Amino acid sequence: MKNLRFLAVFTIVFLLYNLHETTADISTDAQALLEFASSVPHVRKLNWNSTIPICTSWVGITCNDEGTKVIAIHLPGHGLFGPIPPNTIGKLDSLRILSLRSNFLNGSLPSDIISIPSLQFLYLQNNKFSGNVPLTVSPQISNLDLSFNSFTGNIPQTLQNLTHLTSLNLQFNLFTGPVPELNLTRLRLLNVSHNLLNGSIPSPLQSFPESSFSGNEFLCGPPLKECPNTPASMALRPKKHNKKLSTGAIIAIVIGSFLLLLLLAILLFCFMKKKDRDSVSELTVKAVPPGKNEKSDDFGSGVQAAEKNKLVFFEGSSYNFDLEDLLRASAEVLGKGSYGTAYKAILDEGTTVVVKRVREVGVAKKEFDQHMEFVGRIGRHHNIVPLCAYYFSKDEKLLVYEYMVTGSLSALLHGNRGIGRTPLDWDTRVKISLGAAKGISHIHSEGGAKFAHGNIKSSNILLTTDFDGCVSDLGLAPLMNFLPTKPRCIGYCAPEVIETRKFTQKSDVYSFGVLLLELLTGKSPLPSGHEEVVDLPRWVRSVVREEWTAEVFDEELMRYPHVEEEMVQMLQIGLACVTRVPDNRPSMEDVVKMIVDLRSSDSSEHRGSSEDNRSKGSNVQTP
Ligand SMILES: *[C@@H]1O[C@H](CO)[C@@H](O)[C@H](O)[C@H]1NC(C)=O
Ligand SMILES: *[C@@H]1O[C@H](CO)[C@@H](O)[C@H](O)[C@H]1NC(C)=O
Ligand SMILES: *[C@@H]1O[C@H](CO)[C@@H](O)[C@H](O)[C@H]1NC(C)=O
Ligand SMILES: *[C@@H]1O[C@H](CO)[C@@H](O)[C@H](O)[C@H]1NC(C)=O
Ligand SMILES: *[C@@H]1O[C@H](CO)[C@@H](O)[C@H](O)[C@H]1NC(C)=O
Ligand SMILES: *[C@@H]1O[C@H](CO)[C@@H](O)[C@H](O)[C@H]1NC(C)=O
Repeated sequence: MKNLRFLAVFTIVFLLYNLHETTADISTDAQALLEFASSVPHVRKLNWNSTIPICTSWVGITCNDEGTKVIAIHLPGHGLFGPIPPNTIGKLDSLRILSLRSNFLNGSLPSDIISIPSLQFLYLQNNKFSGNVPLTVSPQISNLDLSFNSFTGNIPQTLQNLTHLTSLNLQFNLFTGPVPELNLTRLRLLNVSHNLLNGSIPSPLQSFPESSFSGNEFLCGPPLKECPNTPASMALRPKKHNKKLSTGAIIAIVIGSFLLLLLLAILLFCFMKKKDRDSVSELTVKAVPPGKNEKSDDFGSGVQAAEKNKLVFFEGSSYNFDLEDLLRASAEVLGKGSYGTAYKAILDEGTTVVVKRVREVGVAKKEFDQHMEFVGRIGRHHNIVPLCAYYFSKDEKLLVYEYMVTGSLSALLHGNRGIGRTPLDWDTRVKISLGAAKGISHIHSEGGAKFAHGNIKSSNILLTTDFDGCVSDLGLAPLMNFLPTKPRCIGYCAPEVIETRKFTQKSDVYSFGVLLLELLTGKSPLPSGHEEVVDLPRWVRSVVREEWTAEVFDEELMRYPHVEEEMVQMLQIGLACVTRVPDNRPSMEDVVKMIVDLRSSDSSEHRGSSEDNRSKGSNVQTP
């Protein structure tokens, strides 16, 4: 099943790569591999033998669809040692992925491997290679990882011409000389740290973080320390042979600097003033003083005096407060959602809850009560944000939820990008997506075939303190009376919802698929201020179709080694969910299974067992 889906997505890519090779014979590749196996000793056994079929049975080998060419070799941690002889792997002229990371391979890297014209992913990190890196590198290379080896000599200048390069890891080697001037638009990850490089960091690379370059004692310039004798300091030195002009120049510079300083001071002053004002206005929003008389702007303004004790608690709720307490609580706006405003309310006894003030409810009280009873019942699940209580009157509808301290997935993914941000690692992202999938799957199975969530998006996935994903806003979509002129699920809306304005379980699956793509790419499907709107599914499909590179993935994920295979699998799941035809989308239950599978294949590799079982399913890039 998984393989089929994989094939569907990548067939086009493979066809493009292999169209001209359908006449080639797999036996030449097999011969080259057997020569490799016989000359490179290995601790873990390889079952490579010409008596069994190479494409379906050989450990670590992946062929193209036609079974005519080997396109990937994955032998991470196989206990391979000694040098790789030339004329073995280098003969595989359709190879796209070579992963021999975490072995004990030594000697120099044969030039025929790195120059295989089809090679895109080369993972040789954590070996004992030495000598120079060959100068001719595959023009297709996208990920090159030679880190944690003992390579010497210069970093080849020829890397300058590799326009497909996305990720270059050379840290912890013995490279000397300058950092090549890599002006490559696709380069997202660069690490040359802990080598013996010298000279100044070329300007196109100065936007990479300090840790990309650290541990090179004689490397200088931004983002590291200033180089001694930079051109700027030389310019200030007056030249002797033209005294008149140089005096003029000095005066100009002095005046110029003074004006610049003045300008800076003015700007700084304005900025500080603005900041002052901002923080004041923020305070007034946040710190609504407790007290019954200042509630006009707050939730509860529509609560009628006679009804003050009509807060309905759900069975099993351990809370013990009444509406009065709730209205007295100090409140802080958390955000304005599709259906109303959410407040964080801190109750007197230190309990914190979220109060959602819902607008545009299209049903009468009796129906509302019934619906809430239903929602309260199906919402009892570890991965659904608990609804504790609600209040209904003509002018005011309040829903009281448990407060989730860790916040929403959206805030974690997109908030505070840049300096001081703690990146969201891959394991956490998988955990969150699995939790959310389980929550939605529960809603679908308990709510009946007609019941859907209707508003799955990253800001509605809240997180427990141990980063489990929980679905919030359950049951709100069916209550709303508006026929949205603009669909409220913008960015996450399945195409059929935009037409029919009806949510279904399959449209939830679509929205969840968009959420997975958001997790993988780090891109928000929502329009954000100045940036243009990206149709995330369309964008991902176009990148995957054009040429398969690691380019779709979030930069932040590129720093975690060995997760690429899982990321590719997750991408398959996401793309399956955003299929245009609703019936072709998997069910939420299937999605849960697929995410669980992705994890279990991962842990079996990490335990170092059953590489043999795994390898057949792993026709994807792995570092
Ligand atoms: C290949 O398999 C045959 C039969 O199973 C066996 O006799 C032979 O020794 C194997 N060759 C290698 C290189 O393992
Ligand atoms: C490579 O490793 C083998 C076995 O560990 C050792 O005998 C050999 O000397 C090494 N060769 C180089 C070039 O380091
Ligand atoms: C890059 O490619 C151009 C033309 O293809 C060639 O002239 C140039 O020498 C190459 N530069 C390097 C550093 O290999
Ligand atoms: C880098 O390349 C772009 C175009 O590809 C060019 O405009 C820019 O000047 C180059 N920068 C440097 C520092 O060479
Ligand atoms: C870098 O080191 C090499 C050899 O040690 C030396 O020849 C070269 O001048 C150095 N370059 C810079 C910019 O310091
Ligand atoms: C570069 O590699 C070092 C060592 O693995 C690591 O500590 C550092 O965070 C990396 N920097 C970047 C930008 O990836």
